[in-house]
Order: sequence, then C-alpha cells, then structure tokens
Amino acid sequence: MTNQPPANCPHAIAISAELDWLGTVIAARLAHFFAGETAPFAPPNAPQHARGSALGDLIARAQLDASARIVFALALAVQVNPAVLDPFFVRNKAIDRPFSEFGGLRTETSSFIPTAITALFLLGGGDTAMRIAMMALFAPDHALRKLAGLELGALPATGATAGTFFGGPLLIAPHRVSELCAGQKPAPDFSPQFPAKRLQSGLTWADLILPREVKHHLDHIAAWLANRDKILDEWGLKARLGHGFKALFYGPPGTGKTLTATLLGQRTGLDVYRIDLSMIVSKYIGETEKNLAQVFDMAEENNWILFFDEADALFGARGAASSANDRHANQEVAYLLQRIEECPALVILATNLRSNIDEAFFRRFQMAVGFPKPDAALRTALWHSVLGKMPLAPDVDLAALARDTPLAGGPITNVARHAAISALRRDATHVSTADLQQAIAGELRKEGRTR
Ligand SMILES: Nc1ncnc2c1ncn2[C@@H]1O[C@H](COP(=O)(O)OP(=O)(O)O)[C@@H](O)[C@H]1O
Ligand SMILES: [Mg+2]
Repeated sequence: MTNQPPANCPHAIAISAELDWLGTVIAARLAHFFAGETAPFAPPNAPQHARGSALGDLIARAQLDASARIVFALALAVQVNPAVLDPFFVRNKAIDRPFSEFGGLRTETSSFIPTAITALFLLGGGDTAMRIAMMALFAPDHALRKLAGLELGALPATGATAGTFFGGPLLIAPHRVSELCAGQKPAPDFSPQFPAKRLQSGLTWADLILPREVKHHLDHIAAWLANRDKILDEWGLKARLGHGFKALFYGPPGTGKTLTATLLGQRTGLDVYRIDLSMIVSKYIGETEKNLAQVFDMAEENNWILFFDEADALFGARGAASSANDRHANQEVAYLLQRIEECPALVILATNLRSNIDEAFFRRFQMAVGFPKPDAALRTALWHSVLGKMPLAPDVDLAALARDTPLAGGPITNVARHAAISALRRDATHVSTADLQQAIAGELRKEGRTR
C-alpha cells in the first residue's frame, strides 16, 4: 500500500475496534465452551462505528448485524491482525490434537485461517439449531457475500474439514481489505502478481494519425462508452445487448493499436489496463485464475477498459493439447475467454496476425478495427508529427523521407530517437539527413528489408 494512513485515521480506528471486539467474542465463546455452559451464549455488544470510516460505512450500507459482523471480522482479522485468532490454536489435551469444533486451517507455520465452521462455532457453539440458522449468512445472495465481498475459498483436499462445504476459508479480496484500511480504492498495481498495468500517454487524441474510416470506427466505440447508459436504460436495450463491448484491433506492429486503446480511455475518462498475457500461463496452477479474476472484478467495479495486447495466445492455444502444460494453458484460456465474454466493460484485444483468427472467433466481437500500414500521405503526417519539434538541418526533406520509406508510426518514433542520439553524439545542433538515413536503415533491417 502506498499512502500509509496514520494510526489515528478513522478507518484504522474502526478496524481496530472491530477486531478488539472480535477478540472479546472469541474469549467469551471459548470460556462458554470450556465451562460446558448450557445457558444461552450472549456475545459482547458490537462497537458503534462513527460514520465516515470505510468499515462503518460498509456495515451500514450492507446492514450487517452482529452475527454477520463476526463473520466479516474473522475474515478481516486473518489479513490485518491474525494474532487475534491465536486463541483457536489451543489443543484438546484429551486427544492431543486441535479442537475440530473450531474449524479453521492450520499449518505448522501459518497463522490460524478461519473457515465458515469457525464462524458457526463462534455464533452457535454446540447448538445445532442455532448453527443451521447461521448458515444463511453464507448464502450467495446474502449482503455479506454480495455487498461486503466475503468469499468462501476452495475446500481443503485433506484434513479434518475436507469435503465439507463450510470447511473453506473465509476470504476477502486484498483490494477490498486495502480499501477498508485506507478508505480509498488502492492503486491497482499493488501486488507483483497483478497481471495488469495501467496505460497512459502524453499524447492526445489529436496526435493519432489514422485513415478516416479507422477513426470513424473508433469514434463509434467512444460514442458507445459515452452513451451506454442511455442506450441500455432509456432506449430499452439492456436485456438484449448487455453492457459489454468487445473490440478487436488487428494490424502490423507499430501502427498505433496500443496507443489508440490508451487514448480511447483518455478521451472517455476511463482507465485503461493492459493485461500481460505472459502471466496467464503461470506455473502456479490456480494462481493465474485468481489473479485474473481480480482484474476482471476490478474492471467491473471501476469501469476500466481492458486491453489484451498480443492476444494471439488466446486464438492459438485452443487446439489439441499435447503436454500437461498445454492442457493447463488451454484451461486458463478457456477461463479467460469466458470472462471476456461476460465482462460488462469495454474489452479490446490486439493482434498483429489477422490470419490466425477463425471466423467463429471474429463473430464474438462487436467491432473489428484494422490498423493498416500508413500510406504516403499518413506517413508524411506522422513524420511531421513525430519530428516536428526537433531541430532539423535545412536539407532534411520530411515529405521525401515519408514517401520513400514504408515505415509505420512505431518505427518512425524509433528513427527519431536514434537520429537524435547520433546527432548529439557528434555534438551537432541539428539532426541531419544522414542521421535520419542511418536510423531508417536500422529500422528497415529490423523489418527484414533494405527498402
Ligand atoms: N497511427 C499512429 N498515430 C500516431 N502515432 C503512432 C501511430 N502508430 C504508432 N505511433 C507511434 O508509435 C508508438 C508505438 O505504437 P503502438 O501503439 O505501440 O503500436 P502497436 O500497438 O500497433 O504495435 C506510439 O506510441 C506512437 O508514438
Ligand atoms: Mg502494441
């Protein structure tokens, strides 16, 4: 987390009070349990939170009662202050093993990880009817799940609670925990596993140099973003269209696909995130899906534009799987395609290779935009736009360079860089035609041609 809140910030105070209370609930329940009490259990009163703390606001908004708050606090504690849960480590001396009543996942080295069983123990103790009543807290449509973001993790494969639905750990997504602690949405690149990076550019829409029909398609996408609510709600198309919009950008490298995605966001006031497909086929099976799920969840919550660069992996990997690794990759890809399909935000996929894409795949897009190599007129505009502010020697003829060299915007940008370096290495005050020619030759070589 950046921007560490001071210890006296209202969000931290509310969470501390909530976890202190949870500690007293645990102590009281354990005392009740070990005393063999038959009298009904009355947990200590929950604290009142001042409005204006993220946790207090969430509790009010989701109308969480004391029982729901105990469940939520358990899930919060494991991430914020797991020592609160240490009393559950007490062992049952009679059989020299942990109390199965407490649920929870334990390893030698980890903190105690509460499960739904732990929550049911705190809420219902040994009272079966009470426990059954409390199971409603875990229903998928309960506010704890829907509004507060509580999740039941995967079931452990082995151990005391294996195979029981309530044996899964209580989870809250890390970005939600960050938000509760800091009172604001975390900067999304908060974890090294987060497979997305925000795209930003110092250029503006006016700097984009593309054929008129391409711009027309892009205006269409921008108009969708600006008018989506009106089209769906007022014009009654919600049930038929859904919120999502999928666009395919195809064309040779350096023709402006990434830049266009970035500027579409800038133009419409939405954040654009690039998904790193190299992290999709992670060697940690299951991790990838979790990380991706987080990206999609955040995209939905914050109305991001998602940009899948070099998305060819998504089209290619659907064939027959030969190795276990391939099969795993195919699984990830299938999951990814499904999430893309369902995503209510704008999703853009970019590829250099149109020929790779089969027709069935094409039909899944609301719009396919081809980015052609620029013709001579567009190249002239690009050369002037990219090199316009550089000090050029009097003999430099940008129009002639543009006419004679079939380079796209990306390579032209590289030419500018290398020509500038060469000029300054000579201690020259101006970039010469020779500097430019040399840099052009380098770019053409990269593309495997001499002219
Ligand atoms: N059509 C274009 N208009 C303006 N600048 C462009 C264009 N195409 C490429 N560029 C320049 O080249 C850089 C690289 O282009 P990029 O968007 O990464 O291409 P692609 O994603 O198609 O490979 C851009 O950041 C921009 O400076
Ligand atoms: Mg690109």
